[in-house]
Amino acid sequence: MKVLNFGSLNYDHVYEMDHFVEPKETQSSLSYIRNFGGKGLNQSIALAKAGMEVYHAGKVGSDGQDFIDYLNKYGVNTAYLTKDDNEATGHAIIEVCKGQNCIILHGGANQSIDEKQIDEVLAHFDKDDVLLIQNEISSLAYLIEKAHEKGMTVVFNTAPMNEKVFTYPLDMIDIFVVNEIEGAGLAGLKTSDINEIIEGLRNKYPDRKIVLTVGDQGSYYIEGDTLVHQDIYKVEAIDTTAAGDTFTGFFLASYLKDKDVKKALDLAARASSITVQGKGAAQSIPDISQL
Ligand code: RIB
Repeated sequence: MKVLNFGSLNYDHVYEMDHFVEPKETQSSLSYIRNFGGKGLNQSIALAKAGMEVYHAGKVGSDGQDFIDYLNKYGVNTAYLTKDDNEATGHAIIEVCKGQNCIILHGGANQSIDEKQIDEVLAHFDKDDVLLIQNEISSLAYLIEKAHEKGMTVVFNTAPMNEKVFTYPLDMIDIFVVNEIEGAGLAGLKTSDINEIIEGLRNKYPDRKIVLTVGDQGSYYIEGDTLVHQDIYKVEAIDTTAAGDTFTGFFLASYLKDKDVKKALDLAARASSITVQGKGAAQSIPDISQL
């Protein structure tokens, strides 16, 4: 079994702030750093660090060789990662303040993934393989359809949540990974009440596996009447960027290997508690030996 992560790659421009910039305000940052990020790249690094064989497919601009080298350094296979000379590599402007973050995203090359590239990549995978996606690349509806047609297991982390999600063939998704905002959105609810979100997801997707993370309230696995809860490991958060990506990668790696939900949630909670103690995205994801 191979995991194909067809996902975004972004240069993250990270600004440490005294407070988040408000309308009409100009504010100097306390520090600046450029890192490798993108929900796709972060999740590939997390999967690889959790010991999974992972292929990262996607697109970067002509300045994106660094991403290929970075992924290779952690053992991620980049055979299906291509360069687009006409597009800029995706990037994100990230404000970090008191452990929280705000992100502005520019899709760039991530949004020039087309049906031709998808066909070429999927030709190398079959029904025993797993497709992982996030909501940061183009042509997702086609990708989901084709992977499902092949019989691949499709795992969708619906981040960032927006209207486009409902234009995808969601009935072809096997496992959803969501936080509370994405979970409420997916259930069609405007609530932050965790029990309501769980019930909403359960009612709308009764035959699907759903992983729901709820910040300091921990995480849940929902499948029909089955509900498994996992607490967080309490630490002091410095930067929460990529905590969700770490959770997704470690959960999936462990779940696919052992099919033990409780163990997978616990491992993912431990891994993301380490990620939030470091600055940046991919660089703060721990190695399994640190857990
Ligand atoms: O989940 C964190 C990621 O979201 C960042 O690395 C940024 O690039 C955005 O995609």
